[in-house]
Amino acid sequence: MGVIASAPAKVILFGEHFVVYGEPAIVLAIDKRAYAKAELRNDKQLYLRSVNLGLAGYFENGTFKIERGDARESRFKFEPLKLAVEKVLEIHGKKVGLDIEVNSTVPVAAGLGSSAAVATAVTAAVGALLNVEMSKEDVFRISFEAEKIVHGTPSGVDPAISTFGGTLLFQMDTGFKPLDVKADVPLVIGETGVKRSTRVQVAKVRDVKSRYPRVVEPMMKAAREIVLRAIDALKENDLETLGDLMNINHALLYGLRVSDESLEWLINAARKAGALGAKLTGAGGGGCMIALAENERLEQVLEAIQRAGGTPFIARKTDEGVKIEQT
Ligand code: MEV
Repeated sequence: MGVIASAPAKVILFGEHFVVYGEPAIVLAIDKRAYAKAELRNDKQLYLRSVNLGLAGYFENGTFKIERGDARESRFKFEPLKLAVEKVLEIHGKKVGLDIEVNSTVPVAAGLGSSAAVATAVTAAVGALLNVEMSKEDVFRISFEAEKIVHGTPSGVDPAISTFGGTLLFQMDTGFKPLDVKADVPLVIGETGVKRSTRVQVAKVRDVKSRYPRVVEPMMKAAREIVLRAIDALKENDLETLGDLMNINHALLYGLRVSDESLEWLINAARKAGALGAKLTGAGGGGCMIALAENERLEQVLEAIQRAGGTPFIARKTDEGVKIEQT
């Protein structure tokens, strides 16, 4: 017996990186989910296992003991989850031992918010297991704390979308606002297969920004305008404008040095195959790209991405944020 919770992955349609500096971003939840199962233990240990990563171990008096997989990777993956569990236990007011099993269908280190989806699912599963009263805002806050261990200075966009689902306008100072999206937003996601760290990509942007502040400032403004135009285009189901805006957004990200050769191959292949627009999504430097295409062109774009060496799949947006699957 135990409680299972799940949370969705995401794609950032517009505004990644700029969002870290207070600009708005548009993000949507997709139908790839991370699952977390929480069960009580008889002792006071926290035992963590990731089925998809082949990692397992436990924390005893704050020290991590590895049982399966690479010690460094396990600590790196499990430290944020330990923090999330501790935050829930603080609200619960009593220390208990827990077995947590994670299983995720979200590609890892690919820009789709896998770490946030896992942290959000774990927070919700432990909360439900211990009957801790938690609003979605509480779940978001806790998974955001966990995300700070992973990424250093995250904007919070990843845990927000994993918690609330749907399509959100996100901005650091004003938070998130659900967007009314008429468009179906037919997207192909292409995985480059190149793993990278969000923390490193965010640092690259910080470096460019500090060296060329007066050049980057108008780029920030342009990114904001892209998001504002995109809000209208989404409302009006204007896919052509959305595609144009994606291309411009990608050019800005390229200028900030967060694209790479693997992404450029797939993005060019998608555009040549008739995509209305294509860009990297998430932190870049590898990871994933997205292409927007009319429904009848999706297959063609998908094949072109595959021929260019990527692993493509068609993304469906989902309104379902974090949820309890089984109690
Ligand atoms: C990562 O999915 C998105 C970034 O903008 C970082 C962040 O917002 O925390 C690159």
